[in-house]
Formats: sequence, C-alpha cells, structure tokens
Amino acid sequence: MAKNFSDMEDSNPSANPSIHEVSDPARRVWLRGGFGAMAGGLFGPGLLTACAGAAQQATTPAGPASLGRRIGFKSVPMAAVDTVVVPEGYRAQVLYRWGDPVGVAGQMPAFKPDASNTAAEQALQAGMHHDGMAFFPLDGGTRRGVLAMNHEYVDDGLLHTDGVKTWSNEKAFKSMAAHGVSVIEVERVDIAPRAVAEGVAPPAGQAPGSGPAFVGAWRVVTPSRYARRITARTPMRIAGPAAGHALMKTAADPTGTLVLGTFNNCANGQTPWGTYLTCEENWAGYFEGPEQPSAHQKRWGVKKGNGGYYHWYEADERFDATKHPNEFNRFGWIVEIDPMDPTSMPVKHTALGRAAHEGAATALTAGGKAVVYMGEDARFEYIYKFVSRDAMKPGGLAANRELLDHGTLYVARFDAGGSGEWLPLVHGQGPLTAANGFADQGEVLIKSRQASDALGATKMDRPEWTTVDPITKQVYCTLTNNSDRGKPDRPGPDAANPRANNTMGQIIRWQEQGDLDGTRFRWDHLVLAGDPAQPRAEAKGNVRGDIFGSPDGLWVDPRGVLWIQTDVSSSAMGKGEYANLPNNQMLACDPTDPKGEIRRFLVGPTGCEVTGLTMASDLRTLFVNIQHPGESPSERGDPDAPSRYSKWPDGGRPRSATVAITKLDGGVIGT
Ligand code: FEO
Ligand code: CA
Ligand code: CA
Ligand code: CA
Repeated sequence: MAKNFSDMEDSNPSANPSIHEVSDPARRVWLRGGFGAMAGGLFGPGLLTACAGAAQQATTPAGPASLGRRIGFKSVPMAAVDTVVVPEGYRAQVLYRWGDPVGVAGQMPAFKPDASNTAAEQALQAGMHHDGMAFFPLDGGTRRGVLAMNHEYVDDGLLHTDGVKTWSNEKAFKSMAAHGVSVIEVERVDIAPRAVAEGVAPPAGQAPGSGPAFVGAWRVVTPSRYARRITARTPMRIAGPAAGHALMKTAADPTGTLVLGTFNNCANGQTPWGTYLTCEENWAGYFEGPEQPSAHQKRWGVKKGNGGYYHWYEADERFDATKHPNEFNRFGWIVEIDPMDPTSMPVKHTALGRAAHEGAATALTAGGKAVVYMGEDARFEYIYKFVSRDAMKPGGLAANRELLDHGTLYVARFDAGGSGEWLPLVHGQGPLTAANGFADQGEVLIKSRQASDALGATKMDRPEWTTVDPITKQVYCTLTNNSDRGKPDRPGPDAANPRANNTMGQIIRWQEQGDLDGTRFRWDHLVLAGDPAQPRAEAKGNVRGDIFGSPDGLWVDPRGVLWIQTDVSSSAMGKGEYANLPNNQMLACDPTDPKGEIRRFLVGPTGCEVTGLTMASDLRTLFVNIQHPGESPSERGDPDAPSRYSKWPDGGRPRSATVAITKLDGGVIGT
C-alpha cells in the first residue's frame, strides 16, 4: 500500500531474535533437497484434484494440469510504461475499475470522472485499490464465475474531487465505503466489440460497441444476483475462542460478538468449501491512539497521530482508541465471506489469531483438515499456520460453517541448518499462562504478537503472501523487504532473514514433516531477490532470469507454476538499487526446477503495484489486479493534478482495476 503503514511499522521490541541470530553462509537456494522429491512421491500429480486445497479450483485430469509447469511465453522487457504490458500473443483487458457499479439491481450509479460520487454511491461501486482476489466458478467456471476481491485502502487525494483540501464527515464515510470487498459476476463473452470488452468509452464519433472483435473478452454482469459490496461499516459476526471476550466488548457491542466492517484487506484466501477469506492488514493505521498508549496498544502500533491519515475517528468515534479502547481488538482477523449469498453475514474467525494479516492460503491434509498459512506483514513479525480440529465435510459452506472455529494456531521458528518448528499458541502451554498476562485462550489470540514473542518465534522480513504448491505441498512465502534489519538497536540477520538493510526481499519455502499439519519442517530459500550485479553485498540477489525486488503477491497455480507479483514502493522505484526497475511487475517460474529461470510476464502502469491474481477454471483467463496506478513518489495522489503521473486506464484520473488476460490462441496462461 502507499505510504505503507507496514513500511513504518516496527513495533516488536521483544528479545527473542538472539536464539537464532546465526546467519547461514551457505544460503541454500534452489535446492530441493531430499524433501521435494519425497513430497512428489507422497502427493503425486494424480491427487492434484483431490488435494487442490491450495488450487483455486480443480482442473480436469486431462486438462491444464497435464500441461505441467511448462512456461512458454516470451519475457516482457522492463520499461517505464503507463499501461499493462503482457507477452506477445497475449491480451490484457480492463474489466473492473474503481467506481464501476458492482451490479446491485436498480442501484448502479455511474462513475463520475471528477470523483464527485457520494459516499452512498461509492458503497455501490468498486472500491479503491484492488488487492487479493479469487474466482468462484459458475457453470463449470470456464465462461462464468464470481470474483471476490479486496479494496485495500484509499488515496484521499484521488477519492475526492478536491482531494484533502477540505475535510468532512461525508469524505470519511466515502473513504469507509471505498474500503472492503467487492463480489462481482463475470462472464466470458468471447467475441465482443473491442470498445465494450475493454470497458472504455469509444472514441468520439464511434458508436458504442463498435471496433474490432476479439476472442476471450470478459464483462462484468450487471445487474447480478451475486453483486455485493462489503465495506468498513458492514455488520459481521465474531466467532471462535475470542468471541464475547471482555477485551472484545465495546459500548456499541456489549456482547463482543458483532462488529461493523472490515478494512485494509490485503491478500486473501479461498477455501475448498467455497468461501472467500479476506485479511485485515494495516488496521492499526486507522485508530487514533492516546497520548500515552498502553503496552498492548504499543505492541500493535496504535499511537497518537495514526488517525490523522484517514480521519475516520473524526466521523465515527469508535476509531478513537482513547474513548473506545477495545474497538481495535476487533480488527486484525481473518474474515470468511460466502460469495454466493449477498445476504450472508461475514464472520471474523478468531481461532486463526490476530495480526496485521496479509493472506490466508488454505489447503487440506490428506485426512481433510483445513490448514491456513498466514504471513504478518510488518517488520520483525511472524508467520502463522492454523490447523482445524475437524475434517472438512462434504456439503460446502453449509456443512463447514464452524470448521475455522476449532483448531490450533502455530507460529513459525526457522532454525539455522534448515530445520524449523511450529510453536502452538495454546493457553496454559509454555509461557502462555495467566501469570504472564494471558488469562485464557481468547487473550492468547487477541494478543497473538505478544504470545509469539513469548514463544521465541522468528522475527521475519515482512511476511506477505503465502501459497501451497498443490502438487508437492511445499509452502512458499514472500518476505518483501526490511530495511531495519541490522540497524544498531534492531535484530540482525539470521538464517531465514540473511541480509542487513534488506531492500530486495526473498522468497522462503518449507516442506512440512509428514502432512501439512506436521509441527516440524525443513526450509530453504527459493530465491534472494535482487540483481546479482548490485554493488552492495546485501542487495545482491541470486535471481536467474528477470530481475525483481520486493516480492509480495504469490500463487502456485493448479498446474504448479509459481507467479510472483512485486510491490516496490513508489518512493524507491526507478532509483538507487531499483534504478533498473521503474515499474512493478509480475513473473513466473517452475519452482521445482533447480536451474529454472524466473521470467517476467507483465509490467504494470506507472506508479502501480501489481497485486492479486486468480484464474478461470480452465486456466485460460488470468485475472490480475493493478493497484494505485499513478501513485506519486510521495506515495499520495496529487489532487491538483490527479493524472500527473498516470492516466491509466481511461486517459483521466488513474483508477485501480482488475484486468483479464487471455492468450490470443485461446491457450492456457503461461504455456
Ligand atoms: Fe498490503 Fe503487505 O501488503
Ligand atoms: Ca499497494
Ligand atoms: Ca501485499
Ligand atoms: Ca507490499
């Protein structure tokens, strides 16, 4: 995100790094070791469909999965462009932009290019700053589906006609309405007039719907019975061990079980029982803290001055942490949404722990238990996994409503030498006792950071997305960067986070011992990002192929191709160690090939982050989100000249948008 709260946040003063401050000079990279081969034997490709918990949708045995991990596209050159560039033989089509009507019947306000839509209108339109996303098939999912996606945050300079020159409660409410989640119905119209398919107004004098036709065009279906916006004010239920806890009770909700809204939804997850998981990341940046924050508030980054960024506390005093000290405990959770029922109430599952949650990659053990991997994107925070107590039952959501309410939450410790252990966050075990400030399991979960500190978990370089390879069951996590690593008063390099002043980031991976619910694992680095030719030792990477830094979005698709999206901040792009990387990008690789190259698939428009991806069921359409095009080096839009840095996608005020990418020959993406 812009002016990234996580870029600022470094709230972990605990002393647990010393136990693994052993750096790993060998820097194991691209080594499958014995475990990759072992996993191939345990989870053969024949089980791909049955075990496709991490896969966003099953593929037929004779379908795309049989194409293996083959990458056949030609690399896209890096360039300072203000458009989406995809490989030769591919087409990128703008599908769903900030302000487009979501498609609620009878309530479809058009986007006003001067950003004068009201808060009420915004609540019926695409939110700002698209992020994580998942495709839910309809009719088999090759031509129709539901897309659920996050709108992470807003840039008030672009959201309002005069930016932030004046301020009002209406603006705060419009901001709240531009946050949250969209659920839209999409349909492949296959042969469509270009102007309609690309969602742009035809040139003057040209009739709407005219222009060259092309195969593979998609459209948003409006109106649709699935269409829904979830915002920072949508009622949601709190479930699991922290529901009803004293620390969750507020003046507005004395039961501690009902909360308004979700916001700063970054990455996502998709469950095998058909639901969408959205993750609350930099929520602390919305709460105005007291002059003297409590130790708990400090540990979570709630402090005086936070509220001045979004001004929500001026319009809704629940965001004033002095007046309402428990409201912030009700954010930082994983939220489950039924994308097929717009009347359903989203559920915050406290059993999965509280964090600045980035994503929630979900897979199943052979016995059907749900395993959810979650990174916490802040400097020196942690990687978590949740293992459900029960196995998934047949019958979709109706049979699995409580699956995420019972189970065990673990935090990762990465030891030198490539071994690791999952440490349970269970009340009464080890240091997690009343004497140490954890009265019960609810408090352990609400204070997951403090519990992880006490357990001696490994402080990581900003864990962003996680993903599970559906074939090998290896798990990958992007550690985007951490320029505080090695500063005098901060933790130094360790085996898993081996570089001081880590501007480039790395992708770590592990294989569980036994099934995904195992408590020990073996790990290595897939890659240390950065150009091997960089002069500074800590900025040198070992990328084979196209150079990148600050990896963030990450997904192994159902045929085993690993997709990497980058989020270099606008203040760094094109300068210094990023001089040759003026724009953000998306790349692909075969993560099981020790000699495999990482190849650039897409370059995004000026000032954007490339984040969020999913595919139609036949893997012949890739949906990608472009976030904050035109962000200035100050990391905020310029209301005096909103189009100064980018005019993507319409030639006017820049708009975050979903793009649909297809191959001109109709083939599988990436082949
Ligand atoms: Fe929202 Fe950590 O990126
Ligand atoms: Ca971003
Ligand atoms: Ca991210
Ligand atoms: Ca990021």
